[in-house]
Amino acid sequence: MQNETKKELHTQMWKIENPKDFTAHDREVLEKAAAIIRAGGLVAFPTETVYGLGANALDEAAAKKIYAAKGRPSDNPLIAHVSCLEEIAPLVSNMPENGKKLAKAYWPGPMTMVFPKSAIVPYGTTGGLDTVAIRMPSDPIAAELIRLSGVPIAAPSANTSGRPSPTRADHVLQDMDGKIDAIIDGGPVGIGLESTIVDVTEEMPMVLRPGAITVEMLRETVGEVGIDPAILGPVSADVRPKAPGMKYRHYAPKADLTLVEGETEAVVETINRLAGEKLAEGRKVGIICTDETKDRYPAGMLESIGARARQETVAHNLYAVLRDFDDRGAEYIFSEGFSEDNLGRAIMNRLNKAAGYHILKV
Ligand code: TXA
Ligand code: MG
Repeated sequence: MQNETKKELHTQMWKIENPKDFTAHDREVLEKAAAIIRAGGLVAFPTETVYGLGANALDEAAAKKIYAAKGRPSDNPLIAHVSCLEEIAPLVSNMPENGKKLAKAYWPGPMTMVFPKSAIVPYGTTGGLDTVAIRMPSDPIAAELIRLSGVPIAAPSANTSGRPSPTRADHVLQDMDGKIDAIIDGGPVGIGLESTIVDVTEEMPMVLRPGAITVEMLRETVGEVGIDPAILGPVSADVRPKAPGMKYRHYAPKADLTLVEGETEAVVETINRLAGEKLAEGRKVGIICTDETKDRYPAGMLESIGARARQETVAHNLYAVLRDFDDRGAEYIFSEGFSEDNLGRAIMNRLNKAAGYHILKV
């Protein structure tokens, strides 16, 4: 094991037998996990978006452990997760009208909102900001863990900082073994991309990170909604994105990823040519294709991300495919691009970042 020397804890892995109707074993697991959270420890757990790495959000020392386990910069704030609306009031100094409307429409669910924080939320959780990001997940395991803990749970994605977010418990184990107390295995997550983040602290709500609650859906509920420029392209060093996490090269595989966008024929031809060049140099090459094109790449390691028309499938598979190519030792990855409508905006946001905006338009 490459991390052997850094292992300090024995990380327990506990499986949930029936997330729809908890068994006695499941209740025991959730109680044990909640006790760890209350005692200031770290527990990874599934949510409907990605696996989270949880700690008591009101305990600065516990939040610090999250940063250490992930190797995360301390100015990158954490999302506080709650299990019901009543748990929000103590965490915010006021609840803007748009926040109420969006909460009613999309909570519990894959949306996070940024509010002005109250005094009880420590700066260690918010990365020094006077705002706090809050999410009410719909996943029954996440919801029950928060409820049983009796405290809001701060939870970033349960990956080593900079790696693709975990969508299965074994991804969490790869990154966190020996660094956290326990992992609750609830099987693969449903969505596969992190929650939509909406800042509601100002008059016009602003999307800071696209996700499964799309900009179109938000506009339907509250009218005008802005989009933070950091979502659309690379941010220069002098621009400060509102979600501090958006400035880092996130979601990145170990390989050098290039995104190839354009008409299918041109994309297939270009990827085959570029892959061929790298293969000729003796390099390990991965290709991210779709069900429609999977028979058209004769060389290199191939992974289909799903049918192009099914955005949910593409979102669901994206991080697992990137991690698979890491495991298979890919040095270069070439990926087809996707349309940016609806969920496609979130898919392309993550792919663009994973590629470090290395995009070829053909
Ligand atoms: O789906 C999700 O949101 C997952 C699951 C576990 O809930 N969590 C997640 O957390 O993706 P994380 O830490 O990987 O990403 C949180 C993002 C970061 O980009 C961070 O900068 C931003 O939220 N954020 C947190 N608090 C903020 C605040 N007060 N203002 C602006 N951005 C904030
Ligand atoms: Mg993350």
